[in-house]
Amino acid sequence: MNILEINNLSKVFRLHILHGKKIEALKNIQFSVQEGEIIGLTGKSGSGKSSLMKCLYRTYLASSGEILFSSRAGKIDLVRADDHAIIALRKTEITYCSQFLSVIPRVTAVDVVCESLLRTGNKEEARAKARGMLEMLGLPTELWDAFPVTFSGGEQQRINVARAIIGDPRLLLIDEPTASLDQKTKDTVIDMILELKKKGTSVICISHDEYTLERLTDRRLDLRFGELTEAAMVS
Ligand SMILES: Nc1ncnc2c1ncn2[C@@H]1O[C@H](COP(=O)(O)OP(=O)(O)OP(=O)(O)O)[C@@H](O)[C@H]1O
Ligand SMILES: [Mg+2]
Repeated sequence: MNILEINNLSKVFRLHILHGKKIEALKNIQFSVQEGEIIGLTGKSGSGKSSLMKCLYRTYLASSGEILFSSRAGKIDLVRADDHAIIALRKTEITYCSQFLSVIPRVTAVDVVCESLLRTGNKEEARAKARGMLEMLGLPTELWDAFPVTFSGGEQQRINVARAIIGDPRLLLIDEPTASLDQKTKDTVIDMILELKKKGTSVICISHDEYTLERLTDRRLDLRFGELTEAAMVS
């Protein structure tokens, strides 16, 4: 079953500072994603990878086209859905893991990781699950109850990944999940994402790391100047 179907998606930025100059960041993007499929999104810097992710998460509103998401409640066009629907989907079905953690002040690492579960479930169970993930990811125990603001890049990245996957999302959008990790931690992150795939989670993953792409992805989509290349479309 397709979880995502993207038709004729485009995104144009208008730069007012340059007298309305247009930047076509995404042109006629067309692809679909199946349940449990992991797609690697590749392409040079500036080719539109992050813009595409942000359109899918609705941080950016697409200029035209549709993004049909098969939610638990039925098909919904993420371009046209109202903000309440998008907020609800972000809580339960779609998570986005950016390259850098946007640190929440004075919240402990454990609570940052299980924030989405604290809202609804049993708090102690949520924290136990978060600790289990931090242990798997090799985050030193003395950091679990510390504030991530002072953490290293790789430590923050592990918090960020754990936070995005703890609630078993149906669609995970993840930007460079392994960029600043050592080989062992990289493998752990890859294994955790593959576990999610087994449960049916679909993943779109931006990565420049050939090892990660090789181990993780079923298929790659390559963006060039905002367009999916021919090779990517037929694969
Ligand atoms: N908010 C914005 N306003 C104006 N232009 C933007 C905005 N976001 C992205 N762009 C432009 O859209 C194009 C694609 O950018 P995008 O960030 O999607 O590239 P990318 O493939 O993620 O690159 P990188 O690998 O460096 O992260 C670039 O030309 C960029 O300058
Ligand atoms: Mg980017």
